[in-house]
Amino acid sequence: MNFSTQSKYIELLKRSLIDYGNIGSTEFFPLELIPSTWKTQLLKPINKILRRRNFELVKIKHVGAENRINGYDWPAKAKTMVGLIRLNNVENCVNSILENNVEGDFVETGVWRGGVIILMAALLEENKCVDRKIWAFDSFQGLPKPNPTKYPNDKGNKLYKINLLSASMEEVINNFNEYNISTERVIFRKGWFKDTLPEHEIEKISLLRLDGDYYESTMLSLEHLYPKVTKGGYIIIDDYNAFVYCKKAVDDYRKKMSIDEPIIKIDREAIYWRKNKSPSL
Ligand SMILES: C[S@@+](CC[C@H](N)C(=O)[O-])C[C@H]1O[C@@H](n2cnc3c(N)ncnc32)[C@H](O)[C@@H]1O
Repeated sequence: MNFSTQSKYIELLKRSLIDYGNIGSTEFFPLELIPSTWKTQLLKPINKILRRRNFELVKIKHVGAENRINGYDWPAKAKTMVGLIRLNNVENCVNSILENNVEGDFVETGVWRGGVIILMAALLEENKCVDRKIWAFDSFQGLPKPNPTKYPNDKGNKLYKINLLSASMEEVINNFNEYNISTERVIFRKGWFKDTLPEHEIEKISLLRLDGDYYESTMLSLEHLYPKVTKGGYIIIDDYNAFVYCKKAVDDYRKKMSIDEPIIKIDREAIYWRKNKSPSL
């Protein structure tokens, strides 16, 4: 396994953020134990008795190492689901931005438990960079119901029903605290993107990371934030090759805006490109 960083602290942080507990294991991670939510008449009393005696009925999940490295599974406890390769990409983009003095703040739309923005904050702390902010947009209550009238590509999408895709702002702040990383430079924008993005106050963006899955969430992020990305800045799309509706939003926006910077693959699902024009052009 190649880690792109020179810093042992950042290396360890990334492994911890994806819950990569047992680096030597090639076949399986240590098992994830998920408390049972079975509420059948039969299991209810058993659960009750077990809990009284400090036992817990759990579901065992075997986590394939390859999945966690590539961000293919939705982890029970990890602070991010994006996987190690995509965390390396975030680190590389941040390093390139700092080395080349590309102007602008960092933004993620769709932060979930906050793992990616924790890494961004740690990298800024490590580099003693005090003049950049991190903007965190999320409902902090999962995805909205799709709006097929306005965004037909999202019709029938059921992601809003998945409880696992919801993490509260308190949980994200706790996760920062757990790593002793300050939230001082983080600006949380809680709410649906359709409400929060049109009224954002960001002047310049050097790193724009989109992870809102839906066509609507991706398109709104691009429409409101892409014009603020400065020359030399990076745009990362987490779900480009994971969800056809996400890809469609990106392809539609790139076509509409005549964006011709080449798309670069990060792994099987995520892509990025680097803006080579000034926003005014
Ligand atoms: C796949 S998760 C993001 C994963 C995260 N970047 C990570 O590091 O693991 C998608 C997140 O986007 C948020 N989201 C998606 N669409 C949204 C919208 N239209 N408005 C607000 N939040 C949205 C959800 O609440 C959820 O936290």
